[in-house]
Amino acid sequence: MEETRRSETLINAVEDYLSGLGQYNVGPLWKFLRQALTPEPKSQARPHLWRWKELRPQLLRAGELVSAAEAERRVLMLLNPGIEGRIATTHTLYGGLQLILPGEVAATHRHTPNALRFIMEGEGAYTVVDGEKMTMSFGDFVLTPNWTWHDHGSESSTPVVWLDGLDIPLATMLEGIFFEPFTQEAQSLTKPLNNSVAEYGKSGLLPTWQRSTASHSPLLKYAWTEAREAIMSLSLAAASPSDGAMLEYVNPVTGGPSLPTMASFLQRLKPGQKTETHRHSVSAIYLAVEGHGRTIIDGKAYEWAPGDVFCLPTWQWHAHENLSASTDAILFSFTDAPVMKAFNLYREQAL
Ligand SMILES: [Fe+2]
Ligand SMILES: [Fe+2]
Repeated sequence: MEETRRSETLINAVEDYLSGLGQYNVGPLWKFLRQALTPEPKSQARPHLWRWKELRPQLLRAGELVSAAEAERRVLMLLNPGIEGRIATTHTLYGGLQLILPGEVAATHRHTPNALRFIMEGEGAYTVVDGEKMTMSFGDFVLTPNWTWHDHGSESSTPVVWLDGLDIPLATMLEGIFFEPFTQEAQSLTKPLNNSVAEYGKSGLLPTWQRSTASHSPLLKYAWTEAREAIMSLSLAAASPSDGAMLEYVNPVTGGPSLPTMASFLQRLKPGQKTETHRHSVSAIYLAVEGHGRTIIDGKAYEWAPGDVFCLPTWQWHAHENLSASTDAILFSFTDAPVMKAFNLYREQAL
């Protein structure tokens, strides 16, 4: 009896103690230890697929309603249904579909988030990065790295659409966002057209008189004609069981990722191929470029066709499948792998 009374007194004392801690801005870790240190990553993000046939009309409608000058960037953000109140497609990555119409200019600015583009429709658009103009056609992969001045424009007679990829959620979480508009709409051109491609774009051949030491690739555009030829000429016999034949868009000087925070890839699945299920502590955004297939994420199938975009939250089991019996499928993707590897947070597991 005496003991019960003593333990009740203790319970009351603990409760009083805990409820009084807030006023000192402290909390009892012993109540939150398992919540803070989970056995494995638990993403707030959910897998999701955005359909090109649904989003393309929405994007063209935005083109009727909002000019590029008004919008600065006319983009439909791909918002993860599991993440509320933040611009995020996965917990670290952001994807958006950008439209530029004939004759438009998207004004010059710069920001600390790194950005990449994969052209989804059209040709005759361009991006200028720090005085270098690059032409953009279907399938081209273009970089606008951290703090580089960039503007976009179109000399095409038809709409041009691309997938934007940025590390905005990561940079926001790290509270490292800086942004600056340029004094004029367009910057002046100080380098020859597609200069970085001439200097660094020839496989295995680098200029001797200069070697970029930047944290990003000095090659700012990877043309689709060459990338497609590279992925199609690979033998699939010895390809990765979990990814198929996969190529990374690398920094030609270091062999590392093209941007310090994001790695980008092309992968090819042969007709009927189904990859083995695996998971890794990186999140990814995928774009179906060619073919028709599906990706199983945590047991649910996301069926894709060209132009569809889907996201893979971190540490979720996934496998890709080419549903065609006669044609190859090609996926473009980008991930936060460089960050996870830099901080020793990267793990990969086969089922
Ligand atoms: Fe930008
Ligand atoms: Fe994977």
